[in-house]
Amino acid sequence: MRAGAGAEPFDVVDLITRKRFARSLDRAEIDWVVEAFSRGAVAPEQMSALLMAVVIQGMDARETRDLTAAMIASGERMDFTGLDRPAIDKHSTGGVGDTTTLPLVPLMAALGVAVPQLSGRGLGHTGGTLDKLESIPGWRAELSNDEIIDVLRSTGGVICAAGADLVPADRAMYALRDVTGTVASAPLIAASIMSKKIAGGADGLVLDVKFGSGAFLPDIDEARELATAMVRLGSDSGLRTVALLTDMDAPLGRAVGNAHEVREAVETLSGGGPADLVELTLALAREMLDLAGLTDIDPAPALADGRAMDAWRRMIAAQGGDPHARPAVARETETVRATTDGIVQRVDARAVGTGSWRLGAGRAKPGDPVDLTAGVTVLVRPGDRVRAGDPLLVAACDAPERMERGVAALAAAVELGDAVPEPRRLIAERVTA
Ligand code: URA
Ligand code: CA
Repeated sequence: MRAGAGAEPFDVVDLITRKRFARSLDRAEIDWVVEAFSRGAVAPEQMSALLMAVVIQGMDARETRDLTAAMIASGERMDFTGLDRPAIDKHSTGGVGDTTTLPLVPLMAALGVAVPQLSGRGLGHTGGTLDKLESIPGWRAELSNDEIIDVLRSTGGVICAAGADLVPADRAMYALRDVTGTVASAPLIAASIMSKKIAGGADGLVLDVKFGSGAFLPDIDEARELATAMVRLGSDSGLRTVALLTDMDAPLGRAVGNAHEVREAVETLSGGGPADLVELTLALAREMLDLAGLTDIDPAPALADGRAMDAWRRMIAAQGGDPHARPAVARETETVRATTDGIVQRVDARAVGTGSWRLGAGRAKPGDPVDLTAGVTVLVRPGDRVRAGDPLLVAACDAPERMERGVAALAAAVELGDAVPEPRRLIAERVTA
């Protein structure tokens, strides 16, 4: 596969070496390497080496834009211009117990904004929206493009699997990144997410970019760099994009894990739900309404008075699900208790996510089954006072053999101390073009 062997215009080893020494790649080179990888002329180990060079040396804004464009060109673009409503999309960079999409999409549908949510499955310690919804009996994630439009027209919102033709280059590159330690890179994450969102065809996009221990990029400066890169990629391609930087140091809400989060979403759609989940849902809703030009609508009443719940039921039913079915409950539970008296300093989202994943809520490799009942209930928040023996977390799963390793990951998740911790702000910053 070296140059000279065929009619290829570039030598991939030359591109890898250039990036290794921090030199930039031009548009033609980036277009070629993505296209050649897609047709098998660049081998997975070569692409992996190039991705690692990018993780270490970075890419500038122009390279990131060219990479995004090359990835979009690998597949089809969706089009929602035929709807009678603005189509506004939402994306979270991935968190622990981040249930927000589930109440947010029906809330927006109830307020006249169409939300086409082409989602993914769980990655590593973070949960996936489709896995959560699949805990509802009968609910179907895979829809054809015609079905996506039908569900959007009839209910105003759709959450479904991205089709195989939406940025296939990302799918192939992500599979390599996942197993080669090359996920955590702002330009690669930005190109991966924004290629799918731009090809997804909405009129506007609100990004929830996480920082803190449970995020892919824990450092707020790196998260801001990622948010800025994504907002710029969106704006440059005509997709109006706004980002919120939000704290993912502690899990969001109380429930982590698939069926657990559906139960929490239904609680929120019933006018209850944890305060942080409600706060983030409403903040994202306001940004989406703003992009849709509906700045005079307050989203809070529709979440509390049942309108969003009605939209949820229509959406679930339109995809074959039974909106009245009770989510499955785990056969086994084990409580993690405080070993001393103290004040909760921190609930470490990464440890909780890892615990939930080991209990069976996530998968070790794509295609593995998940335990829909596995997960964690978080009973305390930073600042709470506890006594030795008080319950802190409850681990749940169907497979007893998973319990020990899951609980081991959770044992150090709640840090106790003597001081009252500084309160953290859930929504730290807003990034616009
Ligand atoms: N989510 C994505 O879709 N891509 C990434 O690279 C990381 C998170
Ligand atoms: Ca949650």
